[in-house]
Amino acid sequence: MGFFVRPMRMEDIVQVVQVERECFPTGWAPTPFVRELRNRRAAYLVACATADPSQSESEARAFAARERSRQPPSLLQRLVTGVRDRLVGPALPPPDFSQTIVGFVGVWFMGDESHITAIGVREQDRRHGVGELLLLASIELSLPQRSRLMTLELRVSNRGAQALYEKYGFNPAGVRKRYYADNREDALIMTTDEIAAPEYQGRLERLRQAHTRRWGPSVRFLG
Ligand SMILES: CC(C)(COP(=O)(O)OP(=O)(O)OC[C@H]1O[C@@H](n2cnc3c(N)ncnc32)[C@H](O)[C@@H]1OP(=O)(O)O)[C@@H](O)C(=O)NCCC(=O)NCCS
Repeated sequence: MGFFVRPMRMEDIVQVVQVERECFPTGWAPTPFVRELRNRRAAYLVACATADPSQSESEARAFAARERSRQPPSLLQRLVTGVRDRLVGPALPPPDFSQTIVGFVGVWFMGDESHITAIGVREQDRRHGVGELLLLASIELSLPQRSRLMTLELRVSNRGAQALYEKYGFNPAGVRKRYYADNREDALIMTTDEIAAPEYQGRLERLRQAHTRRWGPSVRFLG
């Protein structure tokens, strides 16, 4: 199995909602993806699976070519969409099942920080480097946004995800007491050092190379 990362599109929402429900079964309201995909200060990426790892690059290229040929909506189309959304709610395009989505990551660009809202990988595809690929892509995406550092919060009991973030230089930066409504669990805030600093970039490059040695080359098309 091979994996590649690309921007999330409206057609992906049905699959991403399934992944999100599997990853966050309790205590979390579903993400309003239609609104989030229109939010200029947010970015969502998905990880797709290919049965044959050598196909990852060609599938990512095919997606990139399709993206380039997409015409941006005209002013009239945007007006019609805006009015329809207000009257009857947003209409979703039909789901695209031609690519299997195994994980996603959401990032908000807030001032000079990038805040990871969620990262999730389908249970059957965990421990194959996909979470790492998504995290790496979200950091790469944040650099051109002039984000100084990355931040997030997660359950204090979520040791697996904490290990992932620690690997990428996130350090504990505080606790939000009783943050999660379902069991009143505390949230741990984790933050990186400056991501553009040479030390952090050096660390990222070593992690990129180690990921490639272990899992093979991966394509990250960030749009
Ligand atoms: C956290 C999560 C995204 C990790 O995804 P993944 O694809 O399994 O992660 P990877 O295979 O890329 O693992 C990368 C690193 O993460 C850490 N890690 C991941 N899962 C771990 C686990 N269960 N226990 C300990 N460490 C773990 C390890 O450091 C690992 O590096 P290693 O292989 O060199 O030990 C996935 O477990 C998940 O979706 N969990 C549910 C949702 C969630 O908790 N999200 C995080 C909060 S927003």
